[in-house]
Amino acid sequence: MTNPALFIAIEGLDGSGGTTQVRLLAEWLTARSVPVQCTREPTDGPVGRLIRRALSPQDPAAVLGDTVLPYLFAADRRDHLDRLVLPQLQAGITVVTDRYVPSSLAYQGLSIGVEAALELNAGFRAPDLTVVLEVSPEECMRRIAARGDTLERFEDLDRLTAIRTCYASGLARLEARGDLILRVDGARPVHEVADRIRAAVAQLR
Ligand code: TYD
Repeated sequence: MTNPALFIAIEGLDGSGGTTQVRLLAEWLTARSVPVQCTREPTDGPVGRLIRRALSPQDPAAVLGDTVLPYLFAADRRDHLDRLVLPQLQAGITVVTDRYVPSSLAYQGLSIGVEAALELNAGFRAPDLTVVLEVSPEECMRRIAARGDTLERFEDLDRLTAIRTCYASGLARLEARGDLILRVDGARPVHEVADRIRAAVAQLR
């Protein structure tokens, strides 16, 4: 394969459909014989597992404060890059991640401010493309409720609405430094959203 491997991040509020779109994009790339690795943050590594426990309402003893979490997400990201993302890219494998730096700007930006979150995350490799699934907080809440999942710490309407505001300013800061960001209407049918993402990825290749 002559094309270099791509690093692609999918972003959006909880319930915006990121996990589905990561899977569909990977399936599409695989069908075109592009070697691809799907991954996610928080990761399944040691720091990511600690974060998932801290976010779970079922484990009150594991809860960590909003001033601690930003460091953990950044540590998990460093681990993610060193252990998986950078070696895979080096090996010519395209990496599609479910969440990356913008999630920290949005979710941790809410507690420590977008600028402070940006500072913590400034050194991490920028993706070749960041896809943002735009879905209203109301629709996200509907989808989360329909899934019947236990709500995580960030999943209530007021909070999602505030997180969306931080997402917007965080993404604008990343765009200003040169990141390529594609905003997609995530309320459209799943396959339409997938087509938009594929078209953008095809342009990069
Ligand atoms: P999520 O993608 O919802 O994981 P899953 O669907 O597998 O449970 O991520 C869990 C939560 O972590 C989600 O509410 C967003 C939050 N999060 C942050 O607050 N900061 C970050 O940097 C990242 C990557 C995620």
